[in-house]
Order: sequence, then structure tokens, then C-alpha cells
Amino acid sequence: TATAREAIERLSRVVPDFPTPGITFRDLTPVFADGAALHAVTDALVAPFAGGFDVIAGVEARGFVLAASAAYATGHGVVMIRKPGKLPRAVLTEDYDLEYGSTTLEVHPDELERGARVLLIDDVLATGGTLAASCSLIERSGWVVAGISVVLELSELAGTTRLPGRRVHSLVTL
Ligand code: PRP
Ligand code: MG
Repeated sequence: TATAREAIERLSRVVPDFPTPGITFRDLTPVFADGAALHAVTDALVAPFAGGFDVIAGVEARGFVLAASAAYATGHGVVMIRKPGKLPRAVLTEDYDLEYGSTTLEVHPDELERGARVLLIDDVLATGGTLAASCSLIERSGWVVAGISVVLELSELAGTTRLPGRRVHSLVTL
């Protein structure tokens, strides 16, 4: 985890005024692009939840990279929580507010058995809207949220207040 934290701090980039003026974007794509960093971050995301989940859910788009890496590392499958209009079969839908606008996420609710324990992974926990909507989709599908793991938590936005009772693991908290 020390290796993961060092890599995140060294490689992540701060982008002012993206995607809209006044928003400071934390970009983790250089962490994804570095093999050793991706490896260390992947292991650190799943370690606290070892043995406690059946499948990994990733949130489009950055969450997909981490979820797939974590799924391969642990021998589990991936459920895709997607932006609207991308999933071809019957979906459940959640609308939510972002720091910069509002959007929708969707899931195929027949992807897993009822009661499946889902480890939910994304890159950044900012306002928590994305992960709160994802938890709602998981539970509405009849699955259980085993935990939430993120690379970076922006504590000033207090995103965990939108995730009451959830076990949230953040590799780096700013
Ligand atoms: C970013 C980030 C998280 C989310 C966090 O995704 O990857 O998923 O915002 O914000 P929140 O905690 O305030 O909800 P975004 O939808 O911007 O883009 P992406 O498709 O590149 O992941
Ligand atoms: Mg995202």
C-alpha cells in the first residue's frame, strides 16, 4: 500500500478548470499508464476485502480500468455500471448530480444471482454521487454492496456522507 500511495502521489495530475471553470480535476490516467503503479494500486484496492466479495463492479469509464484489473488479479468477474444508452438489454437506471452537472448510470440487473456480494470500485470519490447511485443500482438488482474501494478521496467534498453505513477504502485521501 505504501508503494501504491507513493505512485498515486507521484503520477496523479491536477487539472484546473476541467471540465468546467472552477472545478479542479484529479486525473489518474498516468497511474493507469504505468504498469508497476497499476499493479500496486490494483492490489491495494482489493486487499482489505479479500475473501469478502464474489464479483467486482466498475463505474464507467475510469472505474472500468481498475475493476477489470482487480477482477483479473483476484479471479472474479466484472459488472459494468454504465452511462445511459449503452447497455443493450433491460436496465435499472439512477439519475444523480455531479459536481459539474447531472447524469445517469445504468446496470443490467440480471447479470448476477440475488445476494451476490459486490466490491464496487472507482478511481475518485468526490461528491459521492456516482458511488451512491452505483450502490443503489447494486441493491435494486438484489445484490449486496460488500465494500467500496477508490484510489483517491477528496475529503473536502464530504462524499462519504452520501455513503452512510458503507465500508469505504481510499488509498489516498486529500
Ligand atoms: C469522475 C470520476 C468518478 C466521479 C466522481 O467520473 O471518475 O467516477 O467523477 O465524482 P462524484 O464523487 O462527485 O460523483 P466522470 O463521470 O467525470 O468521468 P469518467 O467517465 O472519465 O469516469
Ligand atoms: Mg468516473
